[in-house]
Amino acid sequence: MPITEKDGKFYPDPSFSARAHVKSVEEYREIYRRSLEDPEGFWSEVARELFWYKPPEKILDYNFDTGAGEVFHRWFDGGRTNVCYNAIDRHLGTATRNRAAIIWQGEPDGDSKVLTYQMLHREVCRFANVLKKKGVRRGDRVSLFLPMIWHLPVAMLACARIGAIHSVVFGGFSAEALASRVKETESRVLVTIDHSIRNGRRFELKSIADEALAQCPLVRHVIVVKRTKDPCPWTNGRDTLWDDEMNAPDIGNDCPCEEMEAEDPLFILYTSGSTGKPKGQVHTTGGYMVYTYLTTKWIFDLQPETLYWCNADIGWVTGHSYIVYGPLVNGTTSFLYEGTPLYPRPDRPWELVERYRINVVYTAPTAIRALMRQGDDWPAKWDLSSLRLLGTVGEPINPEAWMWYYRNVGRLSCPIVDTWWQTETGGICISPLPGAWPTKPGSATFPFPGIVPRVADPGIDDPARRGLPMPANATGHLCIERPWPGLSRTIFGDHDRWVSTYFSQYPGMYFTGDGCFVDGEGYHFLQGRVDDVINVSGHRVSTAEVESALVLHEAVAEAAAAGMPHDLKGQGIYVFVTLKIGYEPSEALKKQLSDHVRKEIGAIASPDKLQFAPGLPKTSSGKIMRRILRKIAENKVDELGDVSTLEDAEVIKTLVSGKEKM
Ligand code: WTA
Repeated sequence: MPITEKDGKFYPDPSFSARAHVKSVEEYREIYRRSLEDPEGFWSEVARELFWYKPPEKILDYNFDTGAGEVFHRWFDGGRTNVCYNAIDRHLGTATRNRAAIIWQGEPDGDSKVLTYQMLHREVCRFANVLKKKGVRRGDRVSLFLPMIWHLPVAMLACARIGAIHSVVFGGFSAEALASRVKETESRVLVTIDHSIRNGRRFELKSIADEALAQCPLVRHVIVVKRTKDPCPWTNGRDTLWDDEMNAPDIGNDCPCEEMEAEDPLFILYTSGSTGKPKGQVHTTGGYMVYTYLTTKWIFDLQPETLYWCNADIGWVTGHSYIVYGPLVNGTTSFLYEGTPLYPRPDRPWELVERYRINVVYTAPTAIRALMRQGDDWPAKWDLSSLRLLGTVGEPINPEAWMWYYRNVGRLSCPIVDTWWQTETGGICISPLPGAWPTKPGSATFPFPGIVPRVADPGIDDPARRGLPMPANATGHLCIERPWPGLSRTIFGDHDRWVSTYFSQYPGMYFTGDGCFVDGEGYHFLQGRVDDVINVSGHRVSTAEVESALVLHEAVAEAAAAGMPHDLKGQGIYVFVTLKIGYEPSEALKKQLSDHVRKEIGAIASPDKLQFAPGLPKTSSGKIMRRILRKIAENKVDELGDVSTLEDAEVIKTLVSGKEKM
């Protein structure tokens, strides 16, 4: 279904649009208008497509204005439902019962598994019974430290079934990072694995878990998936095997769903913000379910035969919303792949598309750039004719990568949905609806129904303009004016932090932390973070986290981190380190410090560049002048402006010349 290109815009083929859920720009405009004029009517109709034990009474109640009392939003109050019921049981009385819910492909080719909805029901019920046997009750938190294996969605859905709140911790995190999340959520059960397998290598997740658990006395039960036959560290009395638990004679095939209130939490997921410690975003039952249901259906244009592949990690929000909940609540088939794009060869994704005849691929720009660098011959070898739609997420996509994806993967026939959203937003907020909007490379295009974005004037030139919409093509701070069902409700254990992080900058609006401009035709172009979050290969890392990790090292007096441009990762991490007296800069120490960050946070946070500096530029009140460090890291030394008047002019000169020497 060829795309037509005209004036830099890419129009979906009429045959694609004819079948799409939303078929034209006019239809989109009509739906969008309705979603703003009557948000309660709009969202209650969507909610009615799903199953409720008791229908909602009040669709929306909220206050976003810090000046007008407590900031909150509540959706579908009075309604009772269960997300697991909607993701599985709802389909059992229909033809979907025998459809594959999950097709899992391991990295080693011989490892694979298909779970139909009926089979998934059995696994999830049994695991829910295992959790109950371990004493897990409604409202309890359960930590899941697992890689991309089918057990992870089973464990998540089992939690949802019994009303337990899951906290998935990305399998690449360190023992320290895992420990802090397990402790904060006060989990008593951890589900993990002996080893994970990535790029042909094994990672000792159970050892990492054990190291973390040394700090978590509350954890009484560790349920361990065995990925390999090799032994792994073991604590008798605490550790048990997934298979043994699942096959125990007292574990039944059925487990009733808890009737949850719409606003009961479904899960906690930690993400990095601009300040210190990661924030546990709390997502709730009704709103999150309804929002991920509709966004998945319309943006990925799910059809009855669709085989859909989101190549994110379930450890991040994309995997929660668009591998697990969104697709399953829709009754579609979610393809789950354990491995990485370039292993064992840089055509692994295309080989899988051909083998399974996958219809939708959703991935990150960083993966596209890595594949692009390997050359056009790799995708060219494979039959990709099953593809009808492509998606990207996680960071701004550069137009070259967009065009490469469009030409070499989509073969000039697939619309591309560039989807903008965040852990906080629960689901996609700005994205094309693929049958409706002509796309522009590098633009996430238009808001999803119910979303009211505003590019707010930061008020730098004129403080009186702060918060007002920016004119066309001028970059400002992206805010969202009204609530929508998917937005997180709070930060676990710290509601004030939720309010101050997202609602204090621009009164009455949710502040995203992203820069954005809208062109003359209303297309949104996201410009990256405007705060101290670095987006490394689509993973959020905060400068403060990296700095706190570094200063824990005995040699470090002071540290500052900033984002730097990186060809593959989008952004890399640049750190400036001042050493304590008695320590000398050396390559060996550099390596030690990198390893140290890895150990404290995980490999994703390890610095790409480390510069030893005799001092860091400070304001008169002693705050590190990040703006200047950022410019140095970004190689924009000529944009520092006039620094001669600063007390620190010498320090800056030393930093610049130090960088040149590197
Ligand atoms: C960035 C991932 C440009 C953005 C779903 C946001 C994007 C952060 C896009 C959230 C996109 C995500 N275009 N930038 N299509 N999608 N981002 O919480 O900076 O891991 O604030 O959620 O990723 O990252 P998070």
